Amino acid sequence: MLSKRKNVSVIGAGVSPSANITLQSIEIIKKSECIVYFSDPQLVKMFDDMKVKQYISLDDLYFHGAVDDDAYQAILSRILSLLSTYNNVVFIQQGNPRFGVSLIDMLEEASISHGFNLDVFPAVSSFDSMIIDVKRDPLEHGTVIVDANRLLLFSYKMEPSHDYYIYHICSVGTKKTNIDNASEDNKLELLQQKLTEIYPKNHQCSIIQTSGVGRNNAIIRNIEVSSLVNNIIDISFGTSLFIPCIGRPEVHEDILSMFDL
Ligand SMILES: C[S@@+](CC[C@H](N)C(=O)[O-])C[C@H]1O[C@@H](n2cnc3c(N)ncnc32)[C@H](O)[C@@H]1O
Repeated sequence: MLSKRKNVSVIGAGVSPSANITLQSIEIIKKSECIVYFSDPQLVKMFDDMKVKQYISLDDLYFHGAVDDDAYQAILSRILSLLSTYNNVVFIQQGNPRFGVSLIDMLEEASISHGFNLDVFPAVSSFDSMIIDVKRDPLEHGTVIVDANRLLLFSYKMEPSHDYYIYHICSVGTKKTNIDNASEDNKLELLQQKLTEIYPKNHQCSIIQTSGVGRNNAIIRNIEVSSLVNNIIDISFGTSLFIPCIGRPEVHEDILSMFDL
């Protein structure tokens, strides 16, 4: 247990930090004693422009070939050890920090067991940015956002009348963080198999690397669901899979008759 109540603030950098960082996050950065972050040239430039004194990269703990749980545990330990020197530590996470970042759950638990305050602040996520790229309102068709490994492990039943955004296609069936080459150990064939059981083989989907700045700046590769494995080379830690819905289900007339029109 830490002797004095300390504070960890988790802020998002958005997808493209120089365009997406919020005014709230800038204020937190300016007041911070110590920042930990994953390298991004845009962030480093911002730190220098803001004359931030202490910023420490976490890249040495999150490297190619590491086991993801080990890397997260090591990052958690570093943040805890920094709390014995600093009263407040700011952790900057790409995108929205509460979206697909299991380290935040670990920090929540540690904040209780070690007795520090944890604040998490919102930011632009890759999902926010992708719905701009694909020009889809997620409420129009119903939308599922899902992690590729959970989709397989929990045998989720897919509903093709909904749009799907599948995350972590860079590491299907592996706990390794192969950030330099996401085709290493990636058992993408498991995901492709599941998709071809649900969709026609030639159903179009898109591998998307969103930019966070709109203006058609995303890199989008349109492929058939049955050719996912053939396109493994286009998959990285900064891509997700978008599968548009097939048609629309019929309107439930009994329910419609109860609506005020
Ligand atoms: C650990 S999660 C972090 C998500 C992040 N917190 C967010 O809000 O976007 C990493 C996953 O986010 C997705 N992702 C990250 N950057 C992306 C981008 N630029 N375009 C599309 N998907 C991206 C990929 O599915 C990747 O495997």
